[in-house]
Amino acid sequence: MIKIETCLTPEILHLHQLEGKIAVVTDVLRATSCMVAGLNAGVKSVIPVKKVEEALTYAAKGYVTAGERGGVKVEEFTIGNSPYEHMEEAYHGKSICMTTTNGTVAIDAARKSADQVVIGALLNVSSIGRYIKEQQKDVIIICAGWKGNPSLEDTLFAGALVDQLKEEVEITDDATYMALSQYQSAKNNLSEVIQNHASHAKRLSGLKAQNDLAFCATEDYCDVLPILNGDEITIK
Ligand code: MLT
Repeated sequence: MIKIETCLTPEILHLHQLEGKIAVVTDVLRATSCMVAGLNAGVKSVIPVKKVEEALTYAAKGYVTAGERGGVKVEEFTIGNSPYEHMEEAYHGKSICMTTTNGTVAIDAARKSADQVVIGALLNVSSIGRYIKEQQKDVIIICAGWKGNPSLEDTLFAGALVDQLKEEVEITDDATYMALSQYQSAKNNLSEVIQNHASHAKRLSGLKAQNDLAFCATEDYCDVLPILNGDEITIK
């Protein structure tokens, strides 16, 4: 049976063993939602980096750059961190170098020792579920959270994924069980729960990014499976 565990914030990733596992990294608001939506729309690849300075070296080579700090677009970048920007036609067929406050940090932490890193959001949760069933490998869900704290929306993603897999996985930690219960009580009004209770939703509303909230809370908007290959995330 597939074993599944959840790390609610990268701050405690050192307590988990990643070797031999599929790491599903999620940052529902909004980094991985941008990646999923952009790749689904036609973006060629996403290159996640940790630092703004690194992204600027890609900008100097002509790459599109995207991301934020504290939810606000980095001034020198081409675009910020709204999934609507990532879906624009101008970026179809292009590679986007991206850095964000938490999402790309979680990807960077996962890539160091996991067997595979796949990019999950509510937008593509069923694609991830199907892939895990096919692969029959143990899984760790890594939630990006916010600056070391767990996030409601990432926890709900973890629960949504486990809900799909519950007949075929062995839950090996309390965090996964907590995520599953949270999702099961919120699943009929996910968007409202996120908008009314997630602290990052409140932060983004203050930054006039309310339109992103309902979109990022949409389960199964698309059917894509973004996987990290070397330095680039592409659709399998
Ligand atoms: C992050 O990486 O923390 C987020 O994607 C921030 C955001 O909402 O832009």
